[in-house]
Amino acid sequence: MSCSWMILVSAVLVSVASVAQADVLEHTFSVATLSLPRICEPGNTSVTAVNGRVPGPKVEAREGDTVVIHVINDSPYNVTVHWHGVFQRGTPWADGPAMVTQCPIRPGRRYTYRFTVAGQEGTLWWHAHSSYMRATVYGALVIRPRRGAVDYPFRKPDGEKTVLLGEWWNGDTVALESRSFSTGVPMPNADAYTINGMPGDLYHCPERTNRIAKFKVRRDKTYLLRIINAALNTAFFFKVAGHTFTVVAADASYMDPYETDVIVIAPGQTIDALMTTDASPGRYHMAISSYQSAIPFPPMPAGFNGNASTAVVEYVDAAATANAASPVLPVMPVPNDTDTAHGFYTSLKALDRPGRRTVPLTVDTRMLVTVGLGFSSCQPIQTQCNRSAPVVLANMNNVSFALPATVSMLEAHYRNTPDGVYTRDFPDQPPLVFDYTSRGLLGNTPLASTGSPSTKVKTLRYNATVEMVLQNTALVGLESHPMHLHGFNFFVVAQGFGNYDGVEDGAGKLNLVNPQERNKGAEVAVPTGGWAVIRFVANNPGMWAMHCHLDSHFGIGLAMVFEVESGPTAETAVPPPPPDLPQC
Ligand SMILES: *[C@@H]1O[C@H](CO)[C@@H](O)[C@H](O)[C@H]1NC(C)=O
Ligand SMILES: *[C@@H]1O[C@H](CO)[C@@H](O)[C@H](O)[C@H]1NC(C)=O
Ligand SMILES: *[C@@H]1O[C@H](CO)[C@@H](O)[C@H](O)[C@H]1NC(C)=O
Ligand SMILES: *[C@@H]1O[C@H](CO)[C@@H](O)[C@H](O)[C@H]1NC(C)=O
Ligand SMILES: *[C@@H]1O[C@H](CO)[C@@H](O)[C@H](O)[C@H]1NC(C)=O
Ligand SMILES: *[C@@H]1O[C@H](CO)[C@@H](O)[C@H](O)[C@H]1NC(C)=O
Ligand SMILES: *[C@@H]1O[C@H](CO)[C@@H](O)[C@H](O)[C@H]1NC(C)=O
Repeated sequence: MSCSWMILVSAVLVSVASVAQADVLEHTFSVATLSLPRICEPGNTSVTAVNGRVPGPKVEAREGDTVVIHVINDSPYNVTVHWHGVFQRGTPWADGPAMVTQCPIRPGRRYTYRFTVAGQEGTLWWHAHSSYMRATVYGALVIRPRRGAVDYPFRKPDGEKTVLLGEWWNGDTVALESRSFSTGVPMPNADAYTINGMPGDLYHCPERTNRIAKFKVRRDKTYLLRIINAALNTAFFFKVAGHTFTVVAADASYMDPYETDVIVIAPGQTIDALMTTDASPGRYHMAISSYQSAIPFPPMPAGFNGNASTAVVEYVDAAATANAASPVLPVMPVPNDTDTAHGFYTSLKALDRPGRRTVPLTVDTRMLVTVGLGFSSCQPIQTQCNRSAPVVLANMNNVSFALPATVSMLEAHYRNTPDGVYTRDFPDQPPLVFDYTSRGLLGNTPLASTGSPSTKVKTLRYNATVEMVLQNTALVGLESHPMHLHGFNFFVVAQGFGNYDGVEDGAGKLNLVNPQERNKGAEVAVPTGGWAVIRFVANNPGMWAMHCHLDSHFGIGLAMVFEVESGPTAETAVPPPPPDLPQC
């Protein structure tokens, strides 16, 4: 008896060892309505949350592990979850964007997301990918180096802290968004910015002063801060008074260590930064304030809190008197400090280490794609829309993107039945060549006019190397757009202001040696009134959205989809859909 038990144990140990110590991690996400206190207003509001918490649970894995998440939708809304930055190679049905790779999980139903986190290490995150629900449905996804593998390519930290930056509305964001859609009036700005779900002590609402995140630290230690910008529409400046950072990774790609006292982080991005607690022991504010990239600078609505949101970094080994004092507040950049934002983004370079991915040196498919806003008129389904006023629509190459309604794009691709779902005519070039960033074009209504939204894809053959120039336009306003590509990391090989000039800016000027590898370009990709050149290899068959990670722009069409054809083998083909894939 005991002998066969011994054999069984060693058999299990052998099989664990033979799969290079990869684990299967299983979680259940129960999505339901939660009542939470409003910020600076009396009473509670109902929000949608995972497992009764905002932010939701942290998923922790090691490189190579398989992650299995059972999502049970007990909310009254349709839900999907996106694993932001996970390549999903071989698991395109688990990517999550509603109507791109799956129909939503309807109220009362469930779906299991199953994927492997291979070839990526660092900080990623997960969030709802259906409507504005991600305002409260989000959490961290941390990938540590494989057990027994070489550890971090930087000094091992003494501890780590997860810092989730968010935006909060005193209301049900799904209801707010559906009203905004039917009226054509943009969503109101957030009521507060948050750090780990809390606004901090600078908001002028005494009854809530206790709602502040606290990070306890010991002196002379090094902490790894895993900073995630989960906000829907706001890029942030991030500082901790009296402390500096060494940035070591962004979007789960290692970077050359970069010393700075300010971090700039756009919606969707993550930054891993080391912070040494070498200040005089006491209490310090961690603060975020908004980076407003738009030109003209948008009028801030009455009551908008332009002040910083805060958390406290508290030295546990400080004298009681030091910790009784008010925390020291860092001096934040002004909201339109584009120099600081651009300086931060252009300073990041990929870390040169063995086995890292490198930029494709040849290009099969070249695209120049304008990214910006335009005007249109109300769509028939916008029932409460003012039909004599223009509505703002966003577009890429003058195509405003609409999600299909009856079947997901990936299902239509897999069954080869695109008719009525999408067309393969997303243009490689802008339909009209003009002086894209000329400020003289601001408000040029004829050029800014955008046709009805449609569902166009760019089809790529398996393994094609793609170079895409993303060019901001001035038609409605210059603005930085954090462009996010699903299914791939891309390399940012060049960026600049004004109009991209293939002769001046191309060829010899591209960084093909150590460009940053990201899953979204953010200010990197499309600086305000500028351009960025990205490259990637289409080695992941499926349907992959590329869109602005400002939800206010995604909702009005700032998106397109790459249709990547299957390769010659079973491993390079889209697998059959899982049996529990939600149906529309
Ligand atoms: C308001 O939210 C808090 C925190 O979730 C909860 O403890 C409290 O019971 C709620 N109050 C009401 C009236 O729902
Ligand atoms: C911003 O902070 C200043 C200084 O503390 C304060 O006077 C002002 O009322 C704050 N604004 C808001 C909207 O809270
Ligand atoms: C930033 O905004 C202020 C007004 O708030 C304006 O005076 C200043 O010129 C702006 N700076 C830049 C670089 O646009
Ligand atoms: C509708 O838009 C027109 C043109 O901008 C404006 O004059 C009118 O007041 C608007 N009507 C309503 C009800 O807002
Ligand atoms: C975009 O297309 C519309 C027609 O749908 C056209 O009127 C407009 O001039 C175009 N603008 C650009 C910048 O291509
Ligand atoms: C795809 O590209 C990789 C790397 O260049 C190569 O090893 C592989 O053979 C290619 N596969 C196909 C089907 O082209
Ligand atoms: C939920 O999704 C289903 C299937 O796609 C759709 O028919 C329904 O209209 C959606 N409901 C809401 C409230 O969006």
